[in-house]
Amino acid sequence: MKVNNKYYRTIWAASDGEAVEIIDQRWLPHRFETERISTYSEMATAIRDMHIRGAGAIGAAAGFGMYLAVVSSDDSSVQHTIQKAAAELKTSRPTAVNLEWAVDGQLQALAVGDTLHEKKEIALRVAQKIADEDVEACRRIGEHGLEIIQTVAAAKQGERVNILTHCNAGWLAFVDYGTATAPIYAAHDVGIDVHVWVDETRPRNQGARLTAWELGQHGVPYTVITDNSGGHLMQHRMVDLVIVGSDRTSVTGFVTNKIGTYLKALAAKDNDVPFYVALPSTTFDWNMRDGLAESPIEERHGDEVKYASGLIEGDIRSVLLTPEDSRSVNFGFDVTPPHLVTGLITERGVIPPNETDILNVYPEKR
Ligand code: MRU
Repeated sequence: MKVNNKYYRTIWAASDGEAVEIIDQRWLPHRFETERISTYSEMATAIRDMHIRGAGAIGAAAGFGMYLAVVSSDDSSVQHTIQKAAAELKTSRPTAVNLEWAVDGQLQALAVGDTLHEKKEIALRVAQKIADEDVEACRRIGEHGLEIIQTVAAAKQGERVNILTHCNAGWLAFVDYGTATAPIYAAHDVGIDVHVWVDETRPRNQGARLTAWELGQHGVPYTVITDNSGGHLMQHRMVDLVIVGSDRTSVTGFVTNKIGTYLKALAAKDNDVPFYVALPSTTFDWNMRDGLAESPIEERHGDEVKYASGLIEGDIRSVLLTPEDSRSVNFGFDVTPPHLVTGLITERGVIPPNETDILNVYPEKR
């Protein structure tokens, strides 16, 4: 995607081969900055503290983090460093399954390299493959999701199509294109009049800060709404469809996504608004069956609820919202059961959210 007319991915290998660069999402939308990351521990910190975030982007970050582990090793330490890096990266954030998938992919690939030089080449190749495949999967999700939007637009006879989204499942959350936003960009690019209701997504405001910025960069009309507005908009027929992303989806169709997704799905069901989840195959947890019981749900620091940050007189600052001694709790994700989901938009097409259909599309996972 382009930022101020220059093409960017969210993560890439530095040209000197010694480091990795990322778009540092902490300062958006107020400042666009990139960060150079030289060690796997710095990468784990960048994931944990959300310099880089979103299921696909942290999968790619974990892949590149493993590359950095090899780069900073010598012949005698490489095996040990790879194992330490894998453990640290895997625990940096618990919910998005893409992260452990990427680390496991690197571990498997690195088991065969004999020399340090070979391992470096393998780790870089695998990291780049993870990133490239993420881009291609998101591009295809855009194509499949476009067909859904085209059908809605045809039924509305060219009238504006209103899409509600939650959190940021845009290109910043992946390597490029995004999942929930990919169909929206594709629809906008073919001339469909789309407008996006952007949930602000408290407490970290990924919608208000990131999705709004992304859509604006691409010229897609949008309106930021409070997290509690979606039900009202749906009751008044102001939402034609909902498209969200996912951090982990069970083989049976339970969708783990940013906290608040479940409430949107309930409101959509009650108002007959189609509710789609866009995800690449790397976000399926092929071993998880009961998403409600089994999905790991990250609990982040309560201060994220008590404080909000934004631009104050040119500086990005944090302000206290609550009484200073308030208790707060901060579950990062919730689980939407399959009966509330209309379809899963994947790189292989749109799938009904049940095990039989999912495995028919991904037979190699049986
Ligand atoms: O906590 P975050 O910002 O990393 O949240 C994860 C997500 O990006 C969202 O849940 C998103 O909707 C899933 S798709 C990347």
